[in-house]
Amino acid sequence: MSIEQLESVALAMVAPGKGVLAIDESSKTITKRFKAVKIECTEDSRRAYRQMLLTTPGLGDHISGAILYDETLRQSADDGRSFVEVMRAAGVLPGIKVDMGTTALAGFPGELVTQGLDGLRDRLKEYVSLGATFCKWRAVITINEDSPSSACIESNTHALARYAALCQEAGLVPIVEPEVLMDGDHDIDVCYDVTEATLRSLFGAMYEQNVMLEGTIVKASMVLPGKNCAEQASVEEVAEATLRCLRSAVPAALPGIVFLSGGQSDENATAHLNAMNQMGPSAWPLSFSYGRALQQAAQKKWAANPAANVAEAQQIVAMRAKLNGMAALGEYEPGMEAG
Ligand code: 13P
Repeated sequence: MSIEQLESVALAMVAPGKGVLAIDESSKTITKRFKAVKIECTEDSRRAYRQMLLTTPGLGDHISGAILYDETLRQSADDGRSFVEVMRAAGVLPGIKVDMGTTALAGFPGELVTQGLDGLRDRLKEYVSLGATFCKWRAVITINEDSPSSACIESNTHALARYAALCQEAGLVPIVEPEVLMDGDHDIDVCYDVTEATLRSLFGAMYEQNVMLEGTIVKASMVLPGKNCAEQASVEEVAEATLRCLRSAVPAALPGIVFLSGGQSDENATAHLNAMNQMGPSAWPLSFSYGRALQQAAQKKWAANPAANVAEAQQIVAMRAKLNGMAALGEYEPGMEAG
């Protein structure tokens, strides 16, 4: 695939008023989420749940693409169409999470490195044949007394860059996701410094590995105080700090930035994105690639009665997608939540 083709997929992912739905929870993570809403986690309950999400009427109005887990990319809807066909019919690009999760970084207690590069070239070929157009790889950066170490940042950004180069070789747009976790009692300035250092390292590594920025999407965490920090920040403070950080570290050649929600409430994730877009203009479209902030309300509704609540759960999905689509344009208002 040419760079122009990669770029056009990347631009479609951040088309005005649209963002990406992240439903790529590993079997371990979805088991945890289902347990919280008292649903038994089986291959078929996972399929039924993701079918509810992917068959939401009008999904493609505000969702440009959805990131799937390996199992989901191979599953089908009740009507016999593969999920990939369902998505294509809805105008939603199929994406796939290709990392194999995190493992302890040897020599650095408490720090993580993401694995999955071995054999990735062959796995990507198969994903192309199954209909994927873009990929995701998530690195996790933990803030603590003496972390992150530069070894942790560099190991993770090196892997992200290697992954991105392999994706582009295979004709897939890489979403590169260096997530700085919200866990901890650090303040917003510490999060700013760690996020900036991580993004600078990431772009250095991508430059080294000949990654074409024009065919890459960054999935960033917002600059926030730690969950347990006594001093929380206003919507404007978060938006201002996140924008300042991105401007200092992200080249303008990048076609777009999408955010993860990372444990923020649904309303906060939407309000923060909206505030950033109201403070614009920015060098890149700023949109969303939320997992929990797009799913949690609908998941609760569905889980209360999976046989009967599909339509109601889908209305909730469509509503959150719409509100986040408005936030991607800077046109959201908290009053819209009521509707
Ligand atoms: P959250 O929005 O729930 O953080 O998930 C996004 C994601 O894809 C994390 O990798």
